[in-house]
Amino acid sequence: MENNIDMKVIQWFPGHMAKTRRAIAANLKLVDAVVEIIDARTPLSSRNPEIDRMTASKPRIVLLNKCDLADSNATGVWINYLKKDNVTALAVDCKSGKGINKLLPTLKATVLKELMEKRERSGMTGAPVRLMILGIPNVGKSSLINRLAGGKRAKVEDRPGVTRVKQWVKLRDNTELLDMPGVLWPKFEDQTAAVKLAFTGAISDDILDIETLAMMLLTYLAESYPQTLAERYKLELSGGESGLELLEAVGKKRGMIISGGEINCERAAITVLDEFRSGKLGRVTLEMPPVRE
Ligand code: G4P
Repeated sequence: MENNIDMKVIQWFPGHMAKTRRAIAANLKLVDAVVEIIDARTPLSSRNPEIDRMTASKPRIVLLNKCDLADSNATGVWINYLKKDNVTALAVDCKSGKGINKLLPTLKATVLKELMEKRERSGMTGAPVRLMILGIPNVGKSSLINRLAGGKRAKVEDRPGVTRVKQWVKLRDNTELLDMPGVLWPKFEDQTAAVKLAFTGAISDDILDIETLAMMLLTYLAESYPQTLAERYKLELSGGESGLELLEAVGKKRGMIISGGEINCERAAITVLDEFRSGKLGRVTLEMPPVRE
């Protein structure tokens, strides 16, 4: 998938990363658990592996967000994979709110069970459970906060001892959410991760020219979701088509022709990426869990 990717477009700078780490570390001291949000279509590429180290001492739940856009079988495979690593994960759709009502009960019954029992034993059941959200840009952190907080984002008091004013949003079940999610930088050691994040629109698609990006996406779809692709664009796929052939076929089917009868590949590329991102192309997952040894 490597194709002259312009990493400058998406680079986070070391100073920025250090500042983020410090801010997250300071906020972690204030909460009982972390809600890590990743994209169900790209569960590997949309997560920053540093989160494991940063949150090692905190109970954590993982939300596979945008599950409405992901292949539901693949999401099930991911949830089981994470479970085997003792990671509690839930599939959610922060746009419609699907699955979100399971978050607080699941947290309390799993990763926070010990804390809940301890509080019960010591007569501290009135103490609120405090949470913070962590995730890379565009993964759905704000949507999740809005969903959890509903219309009434009642602010509670600021906590002392921190430089920036932190607001807590009261949720139901005696839970409070830090109204300032931790924004982690995406992981780019591997350029295929950048390409997948560009497919989903999580990062700028300027990392590559739009036609190359669409051709890469079409090649992946033709290999992994041939039926979905064929149905959407009424294509007859025989297998082995190149990205350019696929893009031209889409342009032709959609009547995207410029003067001289040439296919307008740029328009076709924009259409493919837009339709993929909005879910019109079907529910697609871009990566599966690595095979365990
Ligand atoms: P962030 O705070 O982590 O940066 O992400 P944010 O909530 O702003 O979400 C980024 C985009 O993803 C938004 O779309 C949002 O609506 C969309 N989104 C979040 N969760 C889901 C989900 O579960 N399913 C789907 N399909 N989309 C989701 P946008 O185009 O930037 O804005 P808009 O469409 O809300 O206007």
